[in-house]
Amino acid sequence: MSFYENKILPHIIDCSCSMKPIMALRQKVVPLARGVVLEVGMGSGLNLPLYDNEKIDFVWGLEPSMGMRHKAEKNLRKSSVEVKWLDLPGEQIPLDDNSVDTVLLTYTLCTIPDWQAALQQMRRVLKPDGLLLFCEHGRSPESKVSRWQDRLTPMWKKFAGGCHLNRPISDYIESCDFKITQQENLYMEGAPRFVGYMYCGQAGK
Ligand SMILES: C[S@@+](CC[C@H](N)C(=O)[O-])C[C@H]1O[C@@H](n2cnc3c(N)ncnc32)[C@H](O)[C@@H]1O
Repeated sequence: MSFYENKILPHIIDCSCSMKPIMALRQKVVPLARGVVLEVGMGSGLNLPLYDNEKIDFVWGLEPSMGMRHKAEKNLRKSSVEVKWLDLPGEQIPLDDNSVDTVLLTYTLCTIPDWQAALQQMRRVLKPDGLLLFCEHGRSPESKVSRWQDRLTPMWKKFAGGCHLNRPISDYIESCDFKITQQENLYMEGAPRFVGYMYCGQAGK
């Protein structure tokens, strides 16, 4: 891992992902988490204050980047949520089948290289009545915006840790055999449209 990826990128991600409109959208899904939670791409732990502690048992914090896990230390110290780290990527979730009640994905599916393998792993570990909660930016339905997303993604992903601007999040989720039961799509307040088209919702198996 390069110096940029290990030291600089975690700081950039932590700052950008903690902006007010981004935090406001997390609020739509994180408090719905229950039971044993798997947070995929936990990053710097920005969701920790939003969990409803009464409803969750503990959180498996899957995060392959050592720099991000290090960046999360401050938020972990402030939180009463129990986090058990998994230092592997989403494509290799080291948990048993049907063992988690909630999978939480916030601002992460844009980045996972093999999104299909990762979603299949999330489905495998989710209990039959479990919940996949998502709050992700992705492809806009407006062609004038999505054309720019396609143009900008090759350059953007080089400095944004592999983030794609143009992923059709709900299509990806449904293509891996999840059933979306609730979804809200909107442009995030204050963000340029090419980075601010949001998919927030819930899915089951
Ligand atoms: C934009 S950050 C979002 C972090 C956090 N989910 C949040 O909401 O603040 C994307 C995260 O995905 C992680 N990531 C990158 N590749 C991954 C993979 N293959 N599997 C799981 N997470 C990955 C990154 O290290 C980073 O922490």
